[in-house]
Amino acid sequence: MPSLGGLLKKRRTKDSHDFGDSHTDDSGASMQPASHASPQNTGQSNAASIDNIINSNSGNSNDSQSQTQSHGQGQPAQKPERVTKGKYSQEDFQLQRTLGTGSFGRVHLVQSKHNHRFYAMKVLKKAQVVKMKQIEHTNDERRMLNRVRHPFLVTLWGTWQDSRNLYMVMDFVEGGELFSLLRKSQRFPNPVAKFYAAEVTLALEYLHAHQIIYRDLKPENLLLDRHGHLKITDFGFAKDVPDITWTLCGTPDYLAPEVVSSKGYNKSVDWWSLGILIFEMLCGFTPFWDSGSPVKIYENILRGKVKYPPYLHNDAVDLLSQLITSDLTKRLGNLHGGPDDVKNHAWFAEVTWDRLARKDIDAPYIPPIRGGQGDASQYDKYPEETEHYGQEGEDAYGHLFPDF
Ligand SMILES: Nc1ncnc2c1ncn2[C@@H]1O[C@H](COP(=O)(O)OP(=O)(O)OP(=O)(O)O)[C@@H](O)[C@H]1O
Ligand SMILES: [Mg+2]
Repeated sequence: MPSLGGLLKKRRTKDSHDFGDSHTDDSGASMQPASHASPQNTGQSNAASIDNIINSNSGNSNDSQSQTQSHGQGQPAQKPERVTKGKYSQEDFQLQRTLGTGSFGRVHLVQSKHNHRFYAMKVLKKAQVVKMKQIEHTNDERRMLNRVRHPFLVTLWGTWQDSRNLYMVMDFVEGGELFSLLRKSQRFPNPVAKFYAAEVTLALEYLHAHQIIYRDLKPENLLLDRHGHLKITDFGFAKDVPDITWTLCGTPDYLAPEVVSSKGYNKSVDWWSLGILIFEMLCGFTPFWDSGSPVKIYENILRGKVKYPPYLHNDAVDLLSQLITSDLTKRLGNLHGGPDDVKNHAWFAEVTWDRLARKDIDAPYIPPIRGGQGDASQYDKYPEETEHYGQEGEDAYGHLFPDF
């Protein structure tokens, strides 16, 4: 059972206004870890539901082509001018509305005063990071994000700090959270879940090949780009793990049993979470959910009994039972065949992986946004931060974040 030293994130709740800082008990574990994935809990999301906009291969017929041709703002086309030199500051960006808040951070839409493109700026309060013992995770977040480059991972463009906060500027991913789309849709049809699961699988394959485990897979961290392809954001728990690690972190209903029971673990945990994600996309709720308390969720995870609803396709059940298994010698993705075992599973039979990697497969849902214009309509509204960014003054913690 999770006890000291770890940190657990909570899930979205009904009302965006509840999304503030995570509440921790003495153990550092979240007191309000998750909300039930019931359709009533959909909040104020503006996302349209999948039912009315499943793409029947119309429009957007060649996504890789449209990506290449699009020179819109925020989503650099084919060859992005990745700015790697120099530091930015608040002065370089015009602050706009909040796009999301999480356990430690707030993410704003911002517009560059130079190229006028839109970006997402994640702001972390240093005092809060220190208080919640997240110094190492935060430095890792920056380091891992800076290292990765993949079509299904968000791109980091620059970071800096002032006396109070850390700042990370990333792509603004315009289509909103997969979470909002899922709650509005209640559950996804088999092919829709398959499309998103396949893109996540490629991203995990890439991360693991670079010895990075992600550790926080959930629909809140999966964003849709303007063409409906996924981008994974939130590298707050991503870590370079060549061998084994022990830290308890993640989000309760997505935790693998080896994390819950405080055993050492590795990339196996991401394959378990992929199973939970696929289950949630297909069913609309997670398999070990309990409305009572996180402890109940952990008990369910350790008991490991999954009830597969009768509407699930046999292939899906077969895949899920091989991902959501506590037996690490049986968990797909974690075996000798690696990610190929997942990709070659019957449920993914019709996926052409190389085309998918080129974004050459139509997304099932195209977010209704005006691309490149800072259209944040797919994101929930949040009360805005009143603190003025870019303050000078005493800085007790700056030295703890040398890379920012
Ligand atoms: N690049 C982005 N473009 C648009 N919105 C984003 C981007 N990155 C993050 N967001 C929004 O901000 C929210 C919070 O960001 P993030 O998950 O990184 O913060 P966090 O504090 O680590 O979150 P949590 O505790 O919920 O896991 C995301 O769920 C998403 O809605
Ligand atoms: Mg998050």
